[in-house]
Order: sequence, then C-alpha cells, then structure tokens
Amino acid sequence: MDKKVSIIGAGAVGASVAQVLAIKGIADINIFDIVEGVAEGKALDIQEGAPHFGFDCKLKGFCTKDEAMYKNLEGSDVIVVTAGLARRPGMSRDDLLVKNISIMKNIGENIKKYSPRSIIVTVTNPADIMAYAIEKSSGISHERIMGLGGSLDSSRFRTFLAEALDVSVEDVNAFVIGGHGDDMVPFIRYSNVSGIPISDLLSADKINAIIKRTRFGGGEILDYYKNGTAFYAPSISISVMVESIINDKKRVIPCAAYLTDEHAKHYGINNMFIGVPIKIGKNGVEKIYDLNFNDDELKEWNKGVESVKSNCKIADDYFSKNQ
Ligand code: LAC
Repeated sequence: MDKKVSIIGAGAVGASVAQVLAIKGIADINIFDIVEGVAEGKALDIQEGAPHFGFDCKLKGFCTKDEAMYKNLEGSDVIVVTAGLARRPGMSRDDLLVKNISIMKNIGENIKKYSPRSIIVTVTNPADIMAYAIEKSSGISHERIMGLGGSLDSSRFRTFLAEALDVSVEDVNAFVIGGHGDDMVPFIRYSNVSGIPISDLLSADKINAIIKRTRFGGGEILDYYKNGTAFYAPSISISVMVESIINDKKRVIPCAAYLTDEHAKHYGINNMFIGVPIKIGKNGVEKIYDLNFNDDELKEWNKGVESVKSNCKIADDYFSKNQ
C-alpha cells in the first residue's frame, strides 16, 4: 500500500487501533513496543486474519528495546502514540503526567530523527499534554499534531444520548470539548437529534446525568476492568481520526489541537493543546472552529482549561530541566 501508519505502543489500545485500521485496509501498519515480542506477535496475529476480510495491508512489529528499531518509522503518513504507563483504579489521568512526558520526549526525538513529516495522533494520557510534549520534542509543527479526547468523549456522549432517547446513534450529533479529563465540556447547545435540540427532547436532570456519565466514561470502564482502561471505543475513535487524515476526508471531530493567538479571543487561551472542533485532513488540523460561548458555557470551559493549563506548566518545567 502507498500509505503507512505507525503505532507506538502495542498494548490494548495500540493493538486494537491496528486491528481496526487493518480491517479498513487503508494503510500498511507498523507496530512498535518496548516489550519484546509484543509488537511482532500482535502484527502477525492480526495479519493472519486478513484472508477472511480480504485486507491486503501488511503489518509488521518492532521491538524498541533496541532504539534503532525506530528507523522503521520512516515514511509514516500518520504516527499514533499510545505508549506510556496505563491508568490504574484510584489513579487520575494526571497522576501519569510526568512519567508519560518523559516517555513522549524519547518518542518525539525518534520521530524527529526518522519521520519528521508525519502527522501525529497522541493517545497516551493526559492526551492534551502528551500532544504538547510531542510538539516540544519532535519539532513537528503544531498543525500536524492532534490528541485523542473529544473524538472518544463525544462518542460516549452520543451513545448515552441515543440510549436515553431510543434513537439511532447515527442521528445524534453532539460533541464534547475541553481537556480529556474530568472537567471536559459536553456541549449541549450544539447537540441535537437530526437537528432537534437535545434540550427539547430530554429533561435538564436527564441531560445532567448523561453529562456526568460522559465525564466519567473512562472511569466507568476502568472500574469494570480493574486493571486496564477502555480500548474498544478509544481504538474506534482514533481510527476515524487516522482515516480522515489518510483519505483526506475532512471530518469535523473534536480533538486536542493547538490554539494559537488567533483563537485566543474565543477560547481565552493560547499556546496549548485542548479539545476543540477541528477539520481533519491530509495536512492534519486543517481548521479550528471558534465557538462563541454564552456565560454558562464560558464558565464550564474556563474550569476545564485550568487543569490543562497547570499540566502544561508541569511539562514546561520538565522540558526546561531536561533538554
Ligand atoms: C478513557 C481513556 C482512554 O477515557 O482516557 O477511556
């Protein structure tokens, strides 16, 4: 195939992304993992299912215990970064911060060395900050980096709304912006079922309960699994982002994107990654949509921004001490 997607981290999320993308057959897939045998095994395991679904893409696995293996990133159109420590029960996404920033630094430096023209999708939590850490360490321009967040959170939000209304998920348009954390902002005013506003269809109490469930959607799955995070919905949510890049589909999906000065008058912040609606195409983040908040929405947004902002400060401190 003439397109190539690399996935760094062959844990449950990385491997599931590989499987979904393979089934879609849109690109060859290279999988990387530091644990010996894992990436190689998962690549072969997925490949061996190809005859049934007829996917002709090639999957290969590489162990990055030998860092030189990162040379196989060369020529990647998209690199999905899922490597890092996973969240355990009782652990917030932010607890993972510093450890995962150091992992991103190493990955970012290898991306810079071997595949500086790729588009990067960060998944490792907290995803907004990992996008920031990759930007700092890879030298890749911010339009070519996006983080998972809204794509997954909106999928959960739409699922719960569709369930409450007993309608097809296809007809539920709804999105979640802000950080991929407990202060994410499910955006009610722009949520509808085939154009009918959600607030005309559900009581405020019901909507609030769905918002709460969405915010803790990752935690709900974690509570079930006990020692592992969600990976099915995340991998599908990542795949649509990758597919939109590879096929230049120009999907509009909320993801963590870098806000420049140009967006500061709407979002009140700049120079950081946070979840906003973006257009995703072959150039990465092709447009950031500016939203005009009302007073209540602005309050919610500002609350969500604070934790991302303070985490960026931790990342800045890390990078100033570890050049
Ligand atoms: C979740 C993890 C992937 O939300 O952050 O399930």
